Amino acid sequence: MTIDGNTKIVALIGHPVEHTFSPQMHNSAFSKLKMNWIYTAFDVNPENLNKAIEGACALDIKGFNVTIPHKVNVIPYLDEIDETAEEIGAVNTIDFKNLKGYNTDGIGAIKAIEEVTKAKNRNVVIAGAGGASRAIAFYLKKNNADEITILNRNIKKAETLACDLNASFDSLNQINIYIPNADILINTTPVGMHPHENDAPIVSAENIHEDLVVFDAVYNPNKTQLLKETVKAGAKPVYGIKMLLYQGAESFRIWTGKKPPIKTMEETLKKTLGQD
Ligand code: ATR
Repeated sequence: MTIDGNTKIVALIGHPVEHTFSPQMHNSAFSKLKMNWIYTAFDVNPENLNKAIEGACALDIKGFNVTIPHKVNVIPYLDEIDETAEEIGAVNTIDFKNLKGYNTDGIGAIKAIEEVTKAKNRNVVIAGAGGASRAIAFYLKKNNADEITILNRNIKKAETLACDLNASFDSLNQINIYIPNADILINTTPVGMHPHENDAPIVSAENIHEDLVVFDAVYNPNKTQLLKETVKAGAKPVYGIKMLLYQGAESFRIWTGKKPPIKTMEETLKKTLGQD
């Protein structure tokens, strides 16, 4: 597609932004649907965040994805905020039609998990209590997960999040006590992420039962130690790349109103990440 006077712009804002895979994923989707849109990335210094939002409005930019460190601080500059994004307290998608903020991270994780199992009435254990854990946990609650347990290294942080969710909490090192009764395990910690791919996983095969669905938000590498242990135990792995894919697909739908071409986006992500 040639860039011309009709080209519509969407972009990622963050600081830094150069490691993102979103431009490749979204541009392949625009190209597949023959849409005259482009997705780029802007490195926005935190002190310029307000100007970036005002500038985008003035330039008729159609949408932003928002990443670290702006996900929370961008909220005061928006006119509207989606209900769940407000509960989470963080925004990763802005639609400039109505200057409204959304959080598609949690939706991305749920859609990834729901390729394998429904979240409804399930007993879910989440490792980690940071931003990703918060986004996923609120969407799980919205999808009527039965019981949610937050496990974290810093137990105070687990307690704070669990309190907001009306969930249970404990220390991450107690994980083996919770796994036998869990249907779904979600890892939101960076344990196993490059360059620490050989670190001990949060659980090993002998403690994973066959019916457990294990989702690892880490996507670099794709086959983390945790997911290798999951396969070894005969249980069901859900790869982190799927969350990346579905959060992007949901943002695409919000900005364009069109059904995202999932297959194309997934192929591009795999190629970009070097994972076939
Ligand atoms: P994100 O936005 O990806 O969730 P974050 O908000 O920085 O990132 O949260 C990172 C989470 O991973 C935290 O729950 C952190 O635990 P602490 O609160 O105890 O710091 C967890 N985490 C980070 N490194 C970890 C490690 N080596 N082992 C266990 N948990 C770890």
